[in-house]
Amino acid sequence: MSPNNPQVNRFSLAERVTHWLVALSFLYAALTGLALWSPRLYWLATMFGGGTTVRGWHPWGGVAFAAFFAVMFRRWRRQMALDGDDRRWLRLAHRYAVHEEAGLPEAGRFNAGQKALFWMQGTALLLLVASGVVLWWPEAMPRALRLAAVLLHPVVAVVSIAGLIVHIYMGTAAVPEAFRGMIQGWVRPGWAASHHPKWYREVRGR
Ligand code: HEM
Repeated sequence: MSPNNPQVNRFSLAERVTHWLVALSFLYAALTGLALWSPRLYWLATMFGGGTTVRGWHPWGGVAFAAFFAVMFRRWRRQMALDGDDRRWLRLAHRYAVHEEAGLPEAGRFNAGQKALFWMQGTALLLLVASGVVLWWPEAMPRALRLAAVLLHPVVAVVSIAGLIVHIYMGTAAVPEAFRGMIQGWVRPGWAASHHPKWYREVRGR
């Protein structure tokens, strides 16, 4: 940020490209997975080339999601570590939900809710990959493992999709301007100061 340019850089181009590759691959894997999961959602398969195509490509969507998420994970894992303030923030998160933010610890570049989502999606991804591999080659797997995977894969996927719905709501309707940060890479100083004060002080240099 400079006095002549009142824009605060929020996400680099590499961060934005990685994020949107994660988002696209997740959406593809989620929508094709839902089509395979329930006959009532089979209509989704028609949007992606029909049942056979979806059965063939869904696992590859998962592989792409895992690969892109791994890039995002490497880049952000240190910044996503929860500190004492974050743990206090999580205990008081109900106040954030009703816009009573006075007394909440100040957020850094990411708030504790964002960090929690990051770790939740990372854990879900590990479980989805493990159970997905079993479902990809079922004939090679013992019966108990197949049964566990059949149960685990959709349950974890639904939890992960629910997390994503909250994330999309927070990143669009609930926190206006956050979306522009992830598209154009910058936010206004006022936005940075009110949503991520600790981070704003760092980038402002005091
Ligand atoms: C498809 C629709 C999606 C939209 C509209 C969206 C939107 C956003 C926005 C606006 C931000 C910036 C928030 C900020 O500046 O504070 C963000 C950050 C982030 N996104 Fe997404 N995103 C989407 C999908 C995903 C997916 C599928 C994942 C991973 C499974 C993901 C993981 C993250 C993470 C870890 C961050 C940084 C921390 C956070 O803001 O939660 N996003 N996203």
